[in-house]
Amino acid sequence: MHDSRHTAQEEVLSLLRHADGCISGEELSRRLGISRTAIWKHIKALRSHGYEIRAASGRGYQLVQVPDLLSPTEIQNGLHTRFIARNVYAFDQVDSTNHQAMLMGEEGAADGTVVIADAQSSGKGRLGRRWASPAGVNLYASIVLRPPIAPHRAPQLTFVSAVAVAQAINSFSGLDARVKWPNDILIDDCKVGGLLNEMSAESERVHSVVLGIGLNVNMTASQFPTDLRYPATSLFLSSGRKWPRAALARHLFEKLEQLYHQYLNEGFEPILQQWESLCCWQGRVVEVDRGTDRIRGRFAGLDQTGALLLDAGGTLEKIYSGDVRP
Ligand code: BTN
Repeated sequence: MHDSRHTAQEEVLSLLRHADGCISGEELSRRLGISRTAIWKHIKALRSHGYEIRAASGRGYQLVQVPDLLSPTEIQNGLHTRFIARNVYAFDQVDSTNHQAMLMGEEGAADGTVVIADAQSSGKGRLGRRWASPAGVNLYASIVLRPPIAPHRAPQLTFVSAVAVAQAINSFSGLDARVKWPNDILIDDCKVGGLLNEMSAESERVHSVVLGIGLNVNMTASQFPTDLRYPATSLFLSSGRKWPRAALARHLFEKLEQLYHQYLNEGFEPILQQWESLCCWQGRVVEVDRGTDRIRGRFAGLDQTGALLLDAGGTLEKIYSGDVRP
């Protein structure tokens, strides 16, 4: 597990990143107050993590290419947030980032702490389902928040994160991501992302909320499970190109912070409006599978709690959970 504390290796990387062309071993050693041998060891270690560093004789080192790593350093490089992802815990593999974030939340992790993983061995989906989490291709992130709200309002945060994910995809890639009630992100009616929010609360007060975000970024068709219940996609499959995950994660955390502030300052209404403008089936006839029964009706929007309003032959039904299909 890597966390956000700065190591000498990260300082070397930061100097390489900000160098105007090459930077000599001597200068690196002087600036960091460590030996040339130590600098060489850090360069070797960075190369082993996939950083391409050219050594030009007489002129020093030059950073040529950075790997698609979800490390705290890559995520925080150029991150414009005040508190989200200021603490990042990055795992090569973990059971579930939500599980780890819930534990960290209970142990007092700071507001905005991010747990991110390259792979998950037991990625959790909604309704006890599994979330396919192969290594090296997608985003699996959980954000610990400590909102000053009553527990009954916590489900509204699902809509904050849905709007953040869809807007982040759209402005980052130019694709047309949409939201599907209650917590799916779709492109061309295929699921590209899912949200799983979990809460720890006392009777009157939210202790912490974990916003879990799974986004299929560079996943190829053969990496999807064969028994999926719905059509699925990735940004790669929808656009034909691969996307840098750390830059996308950064963009997503910036959007999330902006919308979360809007939610705390202005309430749920502006979030709801943005959600409805991104929603795929507004006004269309849909079928909702509630587990015990199915109900058909016209999708008439959401109420103030985030419940789905279905116009079923003139009567307005409120749906609190279920799977929606056109
Ligand atoms: C769903 O659509 O069923 C929700 C999927 C949520 C998956 C994400 S991946 C990161 C976080 N950690 C988990 O174990 N689940 C969520």
